Amino acid sequence: MNVGLKNNAEKCYQLAEHKAAQYFQELDQDVNDKSYIPTLTKDFKTWKHQHIHRSPFPFLKGANRPSDTKDYHSYIKWLNYTGKLDHYLDRSISYIFMRDMGKDLLASDTQSRIDNVVTSLKDHLLKTVSKEENEGFDFFSTVGLYKWGQKEGIESSIIWLLDKLKTVSLNIPEGMDGTHAQRKLLKIIAGVIINEMEEMGEDLAQDVRTQKLDKALRLGFSYGLTYPFIDDLLDANILSDKEQRQYSEMIRTTLLTESVPESGNWTGKNKKLLEFVEAELSEAFQYIKSQQPAEKLHSFFEQSYVFFKSQEIDRDKVLSNATYTNEDLYVPIIIKSSSSRLIVRSLINAPEDEGQDKRIFCYGIYNQLADDFSDMFSDMKDSAVTPYTYYLTYHKKRTDLINPYELYWAVISYLIHNIYKSDPKACDTILNRAINGLKRFKKRVGNKVYEEIMGTFASGNPAFNHIVQKMVRKAEDVDFFDKLLRDHMVTNLKKEQQEKEDFTELVEEVRTKIDNLIDIQPHNTLVSPVINAANYSLNGGGKRLRPIATWMMGVKEYGLKESTIMPLLKSLEYMHTASLIYDDLPSQDNAAFRRGQKTVHQEYNTAIAELTGLFLTQRATFEQASLGFDPERVLKLIQYSTQSTEDMCKGQVMDLNSKGKQLTLEELNLMCHLKTGKGFEAALIMPSILANVNNEKIQALKKFAYHAGIAFQIKDDLLDVEGTSEILGKRVGIDALNNQSTFVTVLGLEGAKRKMWEHYCKAMETLQDLQLKTRFLQQTLNYFVHRNH
Ligand code: IPE
Ligand code: IPE
Ligand code: MG
Ligand code: MG
Ligand code: MG
Repeated sequence: MNVGLKNNAEKCYQLAEHKAAQYFQELDQDVNDKSYIPTLTKDFKTWKHQHIHRSPFPFLKGANRPSDTKDYHSYIKWLNYTGKLDHYLDRSISYIFMRDMGKDLLASDTQSRIDNVVTSLKDHLLKTVSKEENEGFDFFSTVGLYKWGQKEGIESSIIWLLDKLKTVSLNIPEGMDGTHAQRKLLKIIAGVIINEMEEMGEDLAQDVRTQKLDKALRLGFSYGLTYPFIDDLLDANILSDKEQRQYSEMIRTTLLTESVPESGNWTGKNKKLLEFVEAELSEAFQYIKSQQPAEKLHSFFEQSYVFFKSQEIDRDKVLSNATYTNEDLYVPIIIKSSSSRLIVRSLINAPEDEGQDKRIFCYGIYNQLADDFSDMFSDMKDSAVTPYTYYLTYHKKRTDLINPYELYWAVISYLIHNIYKSDPKACDTILNRAINGLKRFKKRVGNKVYEEIMGTFASGNPAFNHIVQKMVRKAEDVDFFDKLLRDHMVTNLKKEQQEKEDFTELVEEVRTKIDNLIDIQPHNTLVSPVINAANYSLNGGGKRLRPIATWMMGVKEYGLKESTIMPLLKSLEYMHTASLIYDDLPSQDNAAFRRGQKTVHQEYNTAIAELTGLFLTQRATFEQASLGFDPERVLKLIQYSTQSTEDMCKGQVMDLNSKGKQLTLEELNLMCHLKTGKGFEAALIMPSILANVNNEKIQALKKFAYHAGIAFQIKDDLLDVEGTSEILGKRVGIDALNNQSTFVTVLGLEGAKRKMWEHYCKAMETLQDLQLKTRFLQQTLNYFVHRNH
């Protein structure tokens, strides 16, 4: 190990410890002499004029106010309607500027920068919520994110990020809160980007701006990864003691030597997880390294080491140990809560600014104390040591222990008057936040528990507590956008997760049903080789996507009886399977493997394959003709079905004629729409015909199928290059071998991915307008672009 580096990092830690101890002394002094009480009492006197309104009609107060601020869209609408939105955003953004960027609100340009952010955020929010009745695309939705990326010219990075986020969420082990991990990761990325946007100002040339944002996004992810995979993983009880030690050691070595050591040779129960984490972290550190000038890089690693070490010291505490001093409890907290934000600054290479650094340094503990306050019950359950859990456990025996709630107010006073020089706006913002924190806590735990807690923590200063409680009861306009966003994200991520699980489960169920009815029985005792070949092909590992989509539409969306559409499900799979048999023939793609087995012409011969294809398409019509619906609708359906086959044939001809040629984008779109999109369209339109759906809806579904179908085919083209044969069940590289013109050969991997996501966004937008009862088409589309087979 490089001893020189190690000494520096240790020195940094000692320096940070020294600074933190000094800061702690000052705060301790304030708690002891209670000087913060008269100061804050006076502050509240001024503050309350803005936040406690005596209404002549108290019963009108808050009329029409959405009862639950968790309803993101109606809440924003309500704020706008009552004229409160500007103030709300101003206070929220000002707070972020102070906390995350250490900005001095009094500095000349700060207010105009805050105003700019407020204006564009307001604009964005009003656009998002203006869609009637349903969610617009939030910034944190895939579509919102991608569209922002398009606007900034960083689509490639967004695509990269979407892929990464998917992989991370697939690898979050059970026993760790996946929603929380994802939210934190997104928050860190957003934090890094906001910091970068702030640093670069408005007048940058677009290409430089693009480059900087691109980098910030990747840096944000690379650094953000350390939250779920270092902090949370080490906090959770997932690793064995041995793994935990080995893993901590690996991180320590990484931070001290500035590179991830040789593979850890994991042997324990979490081998796979640790190998994954190690590879991801290694890539992340590599990226960070490649982007930093040497001196900044040292400071990044040093800060990170300081952060890591303070976390470790904190983590090693046990609640059963009755002998921790106040310094033991608070100093690591001051260090860890400040260094996390200072790291972001060093990450984006922000110019050093002593004032800013000091403000960030002092701010951290406020947040930590606020978080620990609100988490005190769950921390108690986990026997985690925080100032609150420790105080709750020992305050009767140990009168020397500082009351963390008193320290919390002392910090607030310190920030307002020592750090922000009694600036009225800083004062207003910080008090808003403090009262808001208590209000939220009270609402969450209920009045009774809240009073008990206050009895324990606030009884030492009854007069001051009286004022605070009055504010908690009566003050208005103290809420913050980041809190709303947090709740909204948590609700959404959980909802999405649940939806996805339900969807996957249902898909499996339906697939089994289809698998069980797909076999073809001969209509007399003479079993022909063609029926054998058809069953052979049908029983390979097909995904059954088309009949599954039909089932979802028919049964779930339109409420048709399952048994009535079974023939339709079969017909769709028969037509599709026939198209694959033809597609694989030597005269077309000349493919030897399909659905995990030899293709029909390989297993039997070309003549049998051709006849099987013919048989299957006819058998499809036979099934359709046996649908027990109004004959007029059935005929309409059959008519539509034959046209789909005609279109698919056109598409295949275009495809075969394209060999060795560079198709234009229009031609590519048309070809994919015909050869692939039409099949999906049929899966949605046929049940719609049976359900007698109106033409407007049919047209919208066709539009969806157009974009979704092309996205599906682009993914198929991508998998032909990036996929694995074992998973796909068909050979990769066939397109190149055949000199085929695909999205990938024409636009390259990156270009093809962009087109896929563009079609994804358009398909999602169509669904938004379509307003179906169920959301499985959204889920299907997500599956299309994320699938690996
Ligand atoms: C493959 O379709 C043919 C294309 C349209 C790209 P699928 O990927 O749905 O194939 P199976 O039915 O699962 O085998
Ligand atoms: C086939 O496209 C489309 C059909 C409708 C048969 P591909 O030729 O790309 O399909 P795979 O990759 O062989 O499944
Ligand atoms: Mg083909
Ligand atoms: Mg093919
Ligand atoms: Mg293909």
